[in-house]
Amino acid sequence: MPGPRRPEGFRRSRNDSGRGRSRRLKERLRKKRGRTTQQARWLERQLNDPFVQLAKERGYRSRAAFKLIGIDDEFRILRPGLKVVDLGAAPGGWSQVAAERVRAAEEGGGRVVAIDLHGMEPIPGVVILHKDFYDEDAPAALMRALGDDKADVVLSDMAAHATGHRQTDHLRVMALAEAAADFAREVLRPGGAFVAKVLRGGTENELLHALKRDFAKVRHFKPAASRPDSAELFVVATGFRDMRDDAAG
Ligand SMILES: C[S@@+](CC[C@H](N)C(=O)[O-])C[C@H]1O[C@@H](n2cnc3c(N)ncnc32)[C@H](O)[C@@H]1O
Repeated sequence: MPGPRRPEGFRRSRNDSGRGRSRRLKERLRKKRGRTTQQARWLERQLNDPFVQLAKERGYRSRAAFKLIGIDDEFRILRPGLKVVDLGAAPGGWSQVAAERVRAAEEGGGRVVAIDLHGMEPIPGVVILHKDFYDEDAPAALMRALGDDKADVVLSDMAAHATGHRQTDHLRVMALAEAAADFAREVLRPGGAFVAKVLRGGTENELLHALKRDFAKVRHFKPAASRPDSAELFVVATGFRDMRDDAAG
């Protein structure tokens, strides 16, 4: 019977000096320990997180799905038949919730168009664009996917990779939220709604005030699924007023 496989770090080569070997082994153990602690912390948080368990039970791809559920239960913005754009959609939790609530997979139901830098597994009733929202042709591609019609709801959960530098992360998320708001002003039909992830950090109220010019009601909201220790908030704007219509009329 063969013996247990010798782990990589214990394999001997003829030229190995004892000191080099022990240094490499120590380095490997140090790295392994570092990773294990991080992984253990992440795992502990995941295991103790009721929204992670619920997402698994209900077949949602991310715990983030419950953030949109919390927002929609409070503001009632997703109704059967509506057209929704989901910006920064991967892995797809928000798109799943939006598709359910607008009945995108049903004949005569609504429509969901999702975009992300990363690819996503298909979701019934959702058109998925694997694309950078900052690409020049992204707005036109989204409009085409909407059937060259206006949208009722624009959602943005877009977030750049966290750098760990609070102010940098804040500014990067705010830039994405502002770009999403500009897009929403272009595509929303009167009465439409806009939701975007923001991070607390100093400039979030500027977007809130700017949106008040174009929407009847604008609020910051933190759904139960948004971790209390995170700077994350959502700006929720309802009752879009198309100023260009006012100017024309
Ligand atoms: C928090 S995750 C979204 C989670 C998603 N709402 C869900 O429920 O599964 C943020 C997403 O924003 C995407 N993102 C960031 N910048 C983007 C950009 N410029 N264009 C498209 N997607 C972007 C990221 O790729 C990432 O998948």
